[in-house]
Amino acid sequence: MTHFLDINATDAGDLRAIIDSAKAMKAARGGRPKGAPDDTLPLDGRMVALIFEKPSTRTRISFDVGVRQMGGQTMVLSGADMQLGHGETIADTARVLSRYVDLIMIRTFEEQTLLEMAEYADVPVINGLTNRTHPCQIMADIQTFEEHRGPIAGKKVTWCGDGNNVFASFAHAAGQFGFDLTFAGPPTLDPEMVFVEEARAKGVKVEITRDPVAAVTGADLVVTDTWVSMHDPQSARERRHNQLRPYQVNAALMAHAKPNALFMHCLPAHRDDEATSEVMDGPASVIFDEAENRLHAQKAIMRHCLGV
Ligand code: CP
Ligand code: NVA
Repeated sequence: MTHFLDINATDAGDLRAIIDSAKAMKAARGGRPKGAPDDTLPLDGRMVALIFEKPSTRTRISFDVGVRQMGGQTMVLSGADMQLGHGETIADTARVLSRYVDLIMIRTFEEQTLLEMAEYADVPVINGLTNRTHPCQIMADIQTFEEHRGPIAGKKVTWCGDGNNVFASFAHAAGQFGFDLTFAGPPTLDPEMVFVEEARAKGVKVEITRDPVAAVTGADLVVTDTWVSMHDPQSARERRHNQLRPYQVNAALMAHAKPNALFMHCLPAHRDDEATSEVMDGPASVIFDEAENRLHAQKAIMRHCLGV
């Protein structure tokens, strides 16, 4: 069974093949994300379940559109409306779904839910975000970087802000794709050290600093994300904002990066909190390419999982 649970759980050669396939499928559409189905319909006759236990715009729509472009069909399900949300076990849900659908994508809270789904499903399971990681996003981000600047191997990526699920998948990607990663944020919001140590063990440099200017200096790519994630308690909002304000990505901070540095944000953004509109709408920003590439990257991930 070929699941796509995390970037560190997928072979580095397979990750590269997924990125290449995403680029090729995008090119085959003449660079147009929409308007017609693909020439080949590799998901013809396949049914894909998209399960959401948290809100989503990009993941929901890009998976749904991607399946349809490849000739498959989707059902978009809210976890709360399923028996899953009312006490049926993940294991039973996984075994039941496997009798109906060919592929399961799930966005959930606890990583354990994803892992249990994968353990008991007889069909591939894709991680559409958990509290800990967001691998599909970072696959799209790698594709985006390489479209603009060529191979990401050997580059310096700087993350400013919360050491959250999106950062964690960047750390996985640093090890697998061979780029250096610097984290700048307050000590209370450091990433889990396991992500950092795993990347270091693969031979890349991962630094943690409290100094955003030092972190961004020489960066090829500057990345940030919301200061309060969907799983974070709203009661922590004010404290987080106070701690993270020095790490806002603004024009003054971006000026320390390399002259051709890119800016990324997975979106949704809180404009003028974690990043200013000036940066988000500025020449370094590739945020909407990232959003579009969710479509292409996830089509490649689904084909990888289904072997089609
Ligand atoms: N970036 C991302 O996953 O967006 P959504 O929450 O809208 O799916
Ligand atoms: N870190 C954010 C990412 C949203 C796509 C969250 O988990 O809410």
